[in-house]
Amino acid sequence: MKKVMLIFGTRPEAIKMCPLALELERRPAFETVVCVTGQHRQMLDQILSCFHVQPRYDLSIMREKQTLFDVTINILDRLRAILEAERPDVVLVHGDTSTAFATALACFYMQIPVGHVEAGLRTYDLYAPFPEEFNRQAVDLLARFYFAPTGLSRQNLLREGKPDSRIFVTGNTVIDALDTTVRTDYTHPETEWAHGSRLILLTAHRRENIGPPMRSMFTAIRRIVDDTPDVKVIYPMHMNPAVRDMARECFAGQDRIHMIEPMDVLDFHNLMARAYLILTDSGGIQEEAPALGKPVLVMRDTTERPEGVEAGTLKLVGTEEASVYAAVHQLLTDEAAYLSMARSVNPYGDGNASRRIADILACQL
Ligand code: UD1
Ligand code: UDP
Repeated sequence: MKKVMLIFGTRPEAIKMCPLALELERRPAFETVVCVTGQHRQMLDQILSCFHVQPRYDLSIMREKQTLFDVTINILDRLRAILEAERPDVVLVHGDTSTAFATALACFYMQIPVGHVEAGLRTYDLYAPFPEEFNRQAVDLLARFYFAPTGLSRQNLLREGKPDSRIFVTGNTVIDALDTTVRTDYTHPETEWAHGSRLILLTAHRRENIGPPMRSMFTAIRRIVDDTPDVKVIYPMHMNPAVRDMARECFAGQDRIHMIEPMDVLDFHNLMARAYLILTDSGGIQEEAPALGKPVLVMRDTTERPEGVEAGTLKLVGTEEASVYAAVHQLLTDEAAYLSMARSVNPYGDGNASRRIADILACQL
C-alpha cells in the first residue's frame, strides 16, 4: 500500500483538495493521510466540516496579522517531525499559497516526492499576484508530478523544460467540488434579502491590493450602489483584519451592501449561481464562475487563468476606481455586453479531476 499525504492550509486549497482526499480514501491501494497547516483557521475549518474531512495532523500555525515569514518558518519547523514520522511515498500540495511552497521545500530537504495539484498556472510577474506567482513557480521547480488543470498550463510547464512524461492534464478539482454543492432547491436568508434586485457578489482579499488599490475598488462599488437603486451587494468578508477595516470604512451607511462573515462553500457556490454578476480579486472564483455562466469582473491587472478571459466570461478591470466603475456600469446598462459574458463555458474539466489524479498515482507510485 502506498502512503499519500495531502498537506494544505487555506480555504481555497481545502475546497480543491478535499474532493481528492475523499477519492483517495475510497481506494484500498492507498493509505491517505491529511495534514493541515492551519494557515487559515475558521475559513479552513468551515471547509473541512463541509466535506467531512478529518486531518490526522493540524500544525495550527495561524496568528492574527501573520507575516509571510511567520507562515513559512512555522510550517517548515513543524512539518519536519511529521514527515520524519510518516515518511510518505508522495506529498500532494495545491496551488500557490505559502503552505504549498513551505511544504514543497520541506519535502525537498527530506527528498520526499511532491505532486503539485493545479500546476503550471503563470503570470510570469513575480509580484502579481504576490507572493503566489513565486510560490507556484518554486513548487514546480521541486515537483515530481505535475497535475495541470488545462492544456495551457501544460504548455507553460513544457516551455519551462519540465518533462512531458511527468505532466498530466487532469482538469481542476474545483469542478469536482462544484458538482457536489450547487442545488436548484436552495434557499438562504441572503438570497431572500436580494430577491427582486440585481445581486452583485463581491470578494476581495489579495495582499497586493490591500491599501490604496482596495480603497479605489471599494469606492467604485459604493458609488455604483449609491447610483443604482435596484442593485444589492453581498460581500462575505475575508477574515484579514486589514481587509475588514477598509470595507467597513468604505461601505458604512449603505444598507444595500451586506458585509457578512465568510460563507460555507455550499452557501457561497449557490449564491454565485444566483448572482447577477461577480466582482472579485480571487483566484478560485475565476474558475467557478465560468462554469456557472456568471460574468466576472476581475479586479486585478493580470491573471494566471486566461482560459476564462478567452472564453469571454472573465474581464480584467484593474483596481482603479474609474475602470471598476465603468466596467460594472456597462454590465448593468448594456444588455448585449452582459449577455455576451453570461455564457456558460467550463474550461476546467468534467468534474473527474480527482479520479484522474488517483488513477495516475496508482500507476506512477
Ligand atoms: C492566503 C494565501 C493566498 C490565498 C488566500 C485565500 C499566502 C501567502 N496567501 O492569503 O494565496 O489566495 O489565503 O483566502 O499563502 N485570518 C483569520 N482566520 C482565517 C483566515 C485568515 O483570522 O480563517 C486572518 C488572520 O489575521 C491572518 C490573516 O487573515 O493573519 C491573513 O491570512 P494569510 O493566510 O496570511 O493570508 P491570506 O490573505 O488569507
Ligand atoms: N468561498 C467560500 N466562501 C466565501 C467566499 C469564497 O467558500 O465566503 C470559496 C469560493 O467558492 C472559492 C474559494 O473560496 O472556491 C476562493 O477562495 P479565496 O478567494 O479565499 O482564495 P483564492 O482562490 O483567491 O486563492
